Amino acid sequence: MHFMQKNLHHFDKVYREDSPVITPHLLDVDTFSQQDFELTFSIANRMKKIYTVGPKKSSLLKGITIATLFYEPSTRTRISFEAAGKMLSADVINLSVDNSSTRKGESFYDTMLTLQSNNIDLLVIRHNHSGAPYMAAKHLEKTLVINAGDGSHAHPTQALADMFTLAQHMKSLKDKKVLIVGDVAHSRVARSNLLALCTLGAKPIISGPPNLIPWDLFGKQYRVDSNPFNKVSIMPDLDQAIIDADVVMTLRLQSERHSKGLLPSLREYANLWQVTTDRLAKASTNVLLMHPGPMNIGVEISPEVAYSTNSVVQEQVSNSIAIRMAILLLMTNKGRDVNE
Ligand code: CP
Repeated sequence: MHFMQKNLHHFDKVYREDSPVITPHLLDVDTFSQQDFELTFSIANRMKKIYTVGPKKSSLLKGITIATLFYEPSTRTRISFEAAGKMLSADVINLSVDNSSTRKGESFYDTMLTLQSNNIDLLVIRHNHSGAPYMAAKHLEKTLVINAGDGSHAHPTQALADMFTLAQHMKSLKDKKVLIVGDVAHSRVARSNLLALCTLGAKPIISGPPNLIPWDLFGKQYRVDSNPFNKVSIMPDLDQAIIDADVVMTLRLQSERHSKGLLPSLREYANLWQVTTDRLAKASTNVLLMHPGPMNIGVEISPEVAYSTNSVVQEQVSNSIAIRMAILLLMTNKGRDVNE
């Protein structure tokens, strides 16, 4: 496979300390310009037709091998990468961490080298440690890395799927009021989405309990041009923050990342922060209700809201296949073939 990419600028460029080679990986959306988002959406639109209209299969990635390696549980991300790869005729290998030599003590670094030696072209990694896919990208020479979620840090393909979903409902995100509610501190989805929203000209607002707000990213002292999050506003009162919102994005309460005693009780959290029908009624009439999933129904979101006509949760899931197909094509330099 030829690894000189024409679409280098779409993906993170990792400078390798041991050699001046720049390799492209998808680690986060911080390197995406508005044009990069638009190109990805345009390819995704064509990909979506493959599985909505037909023929459900394309041979664009024939000969490419993709491996998925998830150190944390997943339903949506893993299955949609597998579906995306298979629809494009790639060979997809799902490696189970529990049945791998990781359990015999093999290091992450050696696991990466082993996968590369098995001629894996694209490696989709989810890891509980923020930065793990960056480390993999730094050390792999022939295998390209896709970050499928690292700790509390980033989830670029979820953000791309979410922005693509919004693009299907609104012409532009410019000046749209997008409210992200809940456990922002532990949410990789929130971080990647906020980067994307800032690039696409939206007015992002975050609202959540003070101990679930990452003040180191959004506090007043960080309102400098060099901070990519500097357009994000914080509103501590959800009932005020939600007024006239065009989009409300609810976040899963990431209990598995909480230290003991972080929240006094789930009931109190739900009372103060759950997106309910009454609260959603304060938003814009056609508000789009999003959740990256999986949802804790009755905690951060009420069942009435989760399954309401405003909810685009299942669209987010379906659109993520098209986005992941587009990403696979761009990274293997086939994106141009689709657009022409
Ligand atoms: N949104 C998301 O990443 O879902 P999964 O954990 O099911 O992949």
